[in-house]
Amino acid sequence: MSTKLPIDKLMQALKQNTLVRIFEGFENTYRDDHLKDLVVDEMGAGRDMVVKGRRVTNFGSDSFLGLDRDPRVIQAIHRGLDRWGSHNGASRAFASVRSNLEAEEKLADWLGVESTLIYPSVTLANHGAIPGFAGRKDVVVMDELAHNSIQEGARLAQAGGARIATFAHNSPEGLEQTLQKVKPYRLALICIDGVYSMSGAIPPMKAFNEIAISRDGVLYIDDAHGTGVLGERGRGTVLEALGSYDNAFVVGSLSKAFSCAGGFITCSRLFQKLLKMRSNTYIFGGPVVPAYLDAICTVVDILQSEEYSVLRARLDRHVQRLSRGLADLDLVVSSGTTPILSVSVGDEADTLKAGRFLFDQGFYVQSVLFPAVPYHGGVIRVQCNANHTDTEINGLIAAFEALKQVIRLPLKSQAPGATAQIVRQVNAYCADKVAG
Ligand SMILES: Cc1ncc(COP(=O)(O)O)c(C=O)c1O
Repeated sequence: MSTKLPIDKLMQALKQNTLVRIFEGFENTYRDDHLKDLVVDEMGAGRDMVVKGRRVTNFGSDSFLGLDRDPRVIQAIHRGLDRWGSHNGASRAFASVRSNLEAEEKLADWLGVESTLIYPSVTLANHGAIPGFAGRKDVVVMDELAHNSIQEGARLAQAGGARIATFAHNSPEGLEQTLQKVKPYRLALICIDGVYSMSGAIPPMKAFNEIAISRDGVLYIDDAHGTGVLGERGRGTVLEALGSYDNAFVVGSLSKAFSCAGGFITCSRLFQKLLKMRSNTYIFGGPVVPAYLDAICTVVDILQSEEYSVLRARLDRHVQRLSRGLADLDLVVSSGTTPILSVSVGDEADTLKAGRFLFDQGFYVQSVLFPAVPYHGGVIRVQCNANHTDTEINGLIAAFEALKQVIRLPLKSQAPGATAQIVRQVNAYCADKVAG
C-alpha cells in the first residue's frame, strides 16, 4: 500500500503547470520530430557533432568565433588544470586563484576600463549586481524586452526593497515617462541589453545615457551577445556608442564568443570592491572553474592580436553568404547585427518537421516554438560560427531549398506586408525570450 507524500502532491501540481503542459504536449504530439533535450555523443574537430547516431554540422552554437575548438584555448584549460586542479575550493570572498585577477585585469585592459569583476555566468552577474546596486530608496527601470536574467535580477532587488518599473522597448521617450512616473527616487538603475539577440536591435544608448545623467540614472547594459563579435576588437556595443563607461556598467559574456565560462561586469576599482561586498551570488556562490580563467586570458590575447580581424572577417563572410542564400530562396529571415538568423516557419508541427528535415540532411538548427515565440510564430534559428566551412554554409542553403519542396514556408514575395509584420512580431517577442 503506498501512502501519498507531500512530494507526490508537488509532482501533481507541477504537472498541471501551464508551461509544463505545453512542453509535454509538444513532446508527445510530435515525438519523432521533437529535437529537444538532445544528447551530443561526440564533438568533431570543426563544427560537426554526433547526435542520435548521426554526424551533423552544428548550426546551434553560440561559440561564434569558433574558439571552443581552438587548440590554444584547449591547451590553456589543460595548463590551468595542471596549475590549479579542478576547483578553487571556496567562495572568492575567501580567496581567488591568481588567474582570476589576471583575467579581470586583462579584460579591463582589452575593454579600456579600470577594472572588471568576473561571475560564474552572466545570469549570476545580473542576479548579483542588480540587487547589489539598487537598495530601498532606488528604482530599477528596465526595457520591457530586457533579458530574463535582468528581469529576475530586478525582482531580487525588489525583494530587497527597491522599486521596479519598465519602459517601452528602445524608446528614450518611454524611459523619460517612466522615470517621471517613479519619482522620487535616490537613484535609477536603467537596465537594457546591449544588443537584442533575436532582432539584432541595438538600443539608442547615447540618448538613454543623456536621460540617465540628467535624471539621476546609471546605465546597466547586458552586452552578452555583443562580447567578442561586435565593436572594435570585439569590445561590444557600448564604448563606440557612449565614448566612455563613465556613467555605465557593462556586463559581458565569457561563454558565448569567448567559448570559456562566466560573465563579467566593467567597473572602477572602488566599484569592484563594493560589488564584492554587495553581490550575494559572488559571496555565497562558487567561482568560475580556475582552468577556464587561464583560457579567458588566452582568448583576450587572441582578441587583442592581428588574428582577430581575420576571425571576424570569416564570420561576417559566412553570415553574409547565408543571409544572401536564404533571401535568394525568398524565405522570411530576420537577422541583425549578430551571427544569428531566424527563418520564419509559423505552425508548430511544421517548425519541428523543418528542424527534423534539416537534421536528416545533416544540419542541426534549432526549432523555436511557443512560448519562446508567439503561438504559430515558430522559427528555425541558425547560428553562424567562424569555423564553419564554405561547404557547410552552401550545404545548409541547399538543404533549405530542399525544405521548401517539403513544407510550405512563408515567402517574402507572397505577402510582403504580412512578412514584415511576422518579422516585427517575432523580433519583438523573441528579444528576451529565446535563450542564448
Ligand atoms: C542578454 C543575455 N543575458 C544573459 C544571458 C545568459 O548568459 P549566461 O548563460 O552566461 O548565464 C544570455 C544568454 O543567452 C543573454 O543573451
